[in-house]
Amino acid sequence: MAKVTGTALVTGGNRGLGLEVCRQLGRLGMRVLLSARDIAAGAEATAALRSEGLEVTFEPLDVTSQESIDKLADRLERQGLRLASLVNNAAIALQGFDASVAERTVAANFLGPLHVTERLLPLMEEHGRIVMVSSGAGELEGLSPAIRQRVDPPPSKEELVALMHEFVDDVRGGGYAAKGWPGSAYRVSKLGLNALTRLLAAELKPRHLLVNAVCPGWVRTRMGGEGASRSVEEGADTLVWAATLPPEGPSGGFFRERRAIPW
Ligand SMILES: NC(=O)c1ccc[n+]([C@@H]2O[C@H](COP(=O)([O-])OP(=O)(O)OC[C@H]3O[C@@H](n4cnc5c(N)ncnc54)[C@H](OP(=O)(O)O)[C@@H]3O)[C@@H](O)[C@H]2O)c1
Repeated sequence: MAKVTGTALVTGGNRGLGLEVCRQLGRLGMRVLLSARDIAAGAEATAALRSEGLEVTFEPLDVTSQESIDKLADRLERQGLRLASLVNNAAIALQGFDASVAERTVAANFLGPLHVTERLLPLMEEHGRIVMVSSGAGELEGLSPAIRQRVDPPPSKEELVALMHEFVDDVRGGGYAAKGWPGSAYRVSKLGLNALTRLLAAELKPRHLLVNAVCPGWVRTRMGGEGASRSVEEGADTLVWAATLPPEGPSGGFFRERRAIPW
């Protein structure tokens, strides 16, 4: 594959798919900012990739902390850095289902990518790529009509954020099932992330930014488990493809194995 230039920032880069995306982007020739909330784990992962001869720098980032996001953006701004690619990879899949799980999951998997993207937007190069690492769990298929019509077509960004908070409140109040919500916070968070991807793609079209959601498939990571069907190398492939699209590449799509799939 042809050499790719520019700087890429990857969230949750210390392990799993995020680490492999950092490795593959580095091998393609990009300068990689590996970000992670765990300083020791992030520094260790960065050192490992540097020992492979890749140009990787560690940046502390907890995607659920606006203070952490602001600090990162300030550091990059001071360095005059521009981003060619942003990979919103960090996410959680917690056991159980209650209001606390719903709140933490929406915070990490939906609000995290939203806040990171919005704060880093001024640093994005024209024709830059924003990758939302999503999941088949976020598909519209199988969703109740009541919830489906509230995300497809997506409402405004403010309404979408309010809808995600409403989900958490409905779980807390116990009335979520009656309103048609699925009984999975992970699913709802990725459903919201997909709707957000569609909104951002339209909003950022005038800036020629390519914004896409990508499903890596079922991958052998801590989240996917040992029994998953795909290696991290295979899972990272479409994420890296979306993070290195040429200027004329697609935007506002949902992809798996480099092919468009239905929202
Ligand atoms: N594996 C699969 O089968 C599969 C399938 C579909 C979609 N996905 C998606 O692929 C992406 C990567 O998943 P994975 O399988 O690599 O999961 P993983 O091995 O559990 O890694 C998740 C990464 O996200 C980080 N993270 C979580 N919360 C964070 C926060 N608040 N701030 C910064 N980093 C945070 C974790 O950091 P810590 O080490 O500090 O926890 C870790 O680096 C996720 O978006 C996931 O939803 C995975």
